[in-house]
Amino acid sequence: MAIPPLSTFSLLISLLFISSSALNPPEYRKTFIVRVQRDAKPLVYPTHNHWYESTLRSISTASDSADAASGRMLHSYDNVFQGFAAELSAIEVEKVRSSPGVIAVLPEQVRHLHTTRSPEFLGLKTGNSAGLLKESDFGSDLVIGVIDTGIWPERESFNDRDLGPPPAKWRGKCVAGEKFPANLCNRKLIGARYFCSGYEASNGKMNETTEFRSPRDSDGHGTHTASIAAGRYVFPASTLGYARGVAAGMAPKARLAAYKVCWNAGCYDSDILAAFDAAIADGVDVISLSVGGVVVPYYLDAIAIGAFSASDAGIFVSASAGNGGPGGLTVTNVAPWVTTVGAGTIDRDFPAVVKLGNGREVSGVSIYGGPALAHDKLYPLIYAGSEGSDGYSSSLCLDGSLDPNVVKGKIVLCDRGINSRAVKGEVVKKAGGVGMILANGVFDGEGLVADCHVLPATAVGAVAGDEIRKYIQSAEKSKSPAKATIISRGTRLNVAPAPVVAAFSARGPNPETPEILKPDLIAPGLNILAAWPDNVGPSGIASDKRSTEFNILSGTSMACPHVSGLAALLKAAHPEWSPAAIRSALMTTAYSHDSRGETMLDESTGNASTVMDYGAGHVHPQKAMDPGLVYDISSYDYVDFLCSSNYTAKNIQVVTRKAVAVCRRRRAHIGNLNYPTLAAVFQQYGKHRLSTHFIRTVTNVGDPDSVYTVKIQAPAGVVVTVAPERLAFRRVGQKLNFVVRVRTEAVKLSPGSSVVRSGSISWSDGKRDVRSAVVVTLQQPL
Ligand SMILES: *[C@@H]1O[C@H](CO)[C@@H](O)[C@H](O)[C@H]1NC(C)=O
Ligand SMILES: *[C@@H]1O[C@H](CO)[C@@H](O)[C@H](O)[C@H]1NC(C)=O
Ligand SMILES: *[C@@H]1O[C@H](CO)[C@@H](O)[C@H](O)[C@H]1NC(C)=O
Repeated sequence: MAIPPLSTFSLLISLLFISSSALNPPEYRKTFIVRVQRDAKPLVYPTHNHWYESTLRSISTASDSADAASGRMLHSYDNVFQGFAAELSAIEVEKVRSSPGVIAVLPEQVRHLHTTRSPEFLGLKTGNSAGLLKESDFGSDLVIGVIDTGIWPERESFNDRDLGPPPAKWRGKCVAGEKFPANLCNRKLIGARYFCSGYEASNGKMNETTEFRSPRDSDGHGTHTASIAAGRYVFPASTLGYARGVAAGMAPKARLAAYKVCWNAGCYDSDILAAFDAAIADGVDVISLSVGGVVVPYYLDAIAIGAFSASDAGIFVSASAGNGGPGGLTVTNVAPWVTTVGAGTIDRDFPAVVKLGNGREVSGVSIYGGPALAHDKLYPLIYAGSEGSDGYSSSLCLDGSLDPNVVKGKIVLCDRGINSRAVKGEVVKKAGGVGMILANGVFDGEGLVADCHVLPATAVGAVAGDEIRKYIQSAEKSKSPAKATIISRGTRLNVAPAPVVAAFSARGPNPETPEILKPDLIAPGLNILAAWPDNVGPSGIASDKRSTEFNILSGTSMACPHVSGLAALLKAAHPEWSPAAIRSALMTTAYSHDSRGETMLDESTGNASTVMDYGAGHVHPQKAMDPGLVYDISSYDYVDFLCSSNYTAKNIQVVTRKAVAVCRRRRAHIGNLNYPTLAAVFQQYGKHRLSTHFIRTVTNVGDPDSVYTVKIQAPAGVVVTVAPERLAFRRVGQKLNFVVRVRTEAVKLSPGSSVVRSGSISWSDGKRDVRSAVVVTLQQPL
């Protein structure tokens, strides 16, 4: 292949660079986030920035000019904490670490996106004057900051009809950039910013033909999540003719501020922290973050650190749990000051059945707006894995793995995995295939996601996939070719049972703090209709030139903004509630049964789900408005939590905004954080006592004179007692304490295995049930 002249030129430059740096050892620089002590700035520097630049100059190595060194500062932080991000070499990092006033130096990490009927499904009916929407005036004084891929502001979902000026406290800005003049903001989208210094420091300059150096969304994810949280009513709405109806976000009058931190190659910590820093200063009420990475201790976790400062400033932070399910220990964004949201189904799906040559009909789901396959005709059907030279890559329908001579005119069965589900369809289409069946592997189980495909296609579960593969094999043996067709049945409503925990939704136990149950709750996250940019096809594939005002996506990314929007409504109705009080209201009123009245199912197995899958349960907005009692938590309580987690004073200081030299007091145990769920983890060593207690404080936010009595549903084999069993309140705002003791017997377990048992305690005043899950885990050490 010929090398274009431009590449030759850059090759020369890099050769020159190599030869010149052979004289000096090469300095590989990476991005680091430097957290300094707020009050350590020497008086000679007028501002913190002068101090940082001077520090960078003083540590710069010989091969580098001092000015270049100070120019390597990427962000400076004031609100999230005091500090800066800069590109540093290994030697420079060590010098910075030992500079006076520096508390911590964290390496940059990259995060990834956790990729409407849902308001009705949640009971937020628009005509219901007594409902949550009315009481909170639709949340018009509240601002939701969405930290994501930016926004496509021209969408109807972001129109500002009938909205007054932005709330007086608002300090945010509409930052102009590529294809985004500052006048694009309106009374709905009141702020827009973008942060790319960290991204470009690690990845090189962005390609401005494929992404916009501005708040404009070139991906779609951020537009989608923003409109789930706070999209206006839009009618009619649909995607390629599917899911027709009214589209609306959770808080249709809440204001939006978009903070773009995610780019084509991911979302970088230094940029995410800059977004938190700006959002805190701008005055948002809620931060919605559908982004995550690997779980690390809180003092190394930029999202946990940013969220702590936000929460300390009274901002509710909801984050997606991740899409690593159905396996256990997959939940991310687990800090106790973050509300961690998993995903459930709603009562709508998009069936597309496969009719096989043997007369069997296998059910699946799909979205495809183009010409359908004939219903009365069968097409030749092949399994990609049984054709071609490389069975593995072709079974997955990876790019270039299908032979057009074999595939032309046929329906192709592709296995799920590696490349995106919609891209597999494109690969089949490019090879001349007429349709695709996308089969789950064993790991995916029975969870189905309806994607917008570029050809007639359907997704089927692991069991159905096996059946179709067997049918193809047996047909091959009997020399009568396998045949099939795909019949789309459009949009189906009132699907039962619902909700079901989505197969991909990340599960507990909490890998960082097993004593805090995560995810906290679940919300709709499967096949959600929401706004979509103009320049991105609904499948998200570059070659997909279809344009659609709305798109249907799935993920905990979609569940998170549902909770963000609800939090805004709750805060509008109860301005005095803290972020922890809002979360408590959402959690203690959540439910774990489905439309049949039985425990919600797990989509991946079809069996009942557990607290490790749904936490407190599925959100119930109407009940959350009037929870009766809340479990409140202050920043001091979170510091106590970090103390009882045995974090060092220095590490605690890294997480918390205020400098805390010593722990206020060592609490008996971590379980005493005033969390709305109670989780105990026991190691079964010999005759080790398997009992513990939880101290809790509830605040009356219901009727002034109210008496609550406790109802206990003990987990199997566990004795639970609550003292006192009756709480009599005389005023709103009054706090009362109680103690929950749990004691369990050892059970026979093989080494390294564990068992989880769950029950609940509920405080009831006859009108309201304030429910907390009680979860006991027994572990047998290896
Ligand atoms: C930017 O992306 C476009 C479209 O993918 C591509 O054609 C072009 O070569 C890229 N430019 C650079 C500088 O990488
Ligand atoms: C589902 O439940 C059945 C009956 O209790 C059990 O036999 C089966 O192993 C369960 N499946 C999974 C995947 O847990
Ligand atoms: C913290 O340390 C104490 C004393 O060593 C220990 O009893 C406790 O279990 C530790 N807590 C955690 C959360 O590791």
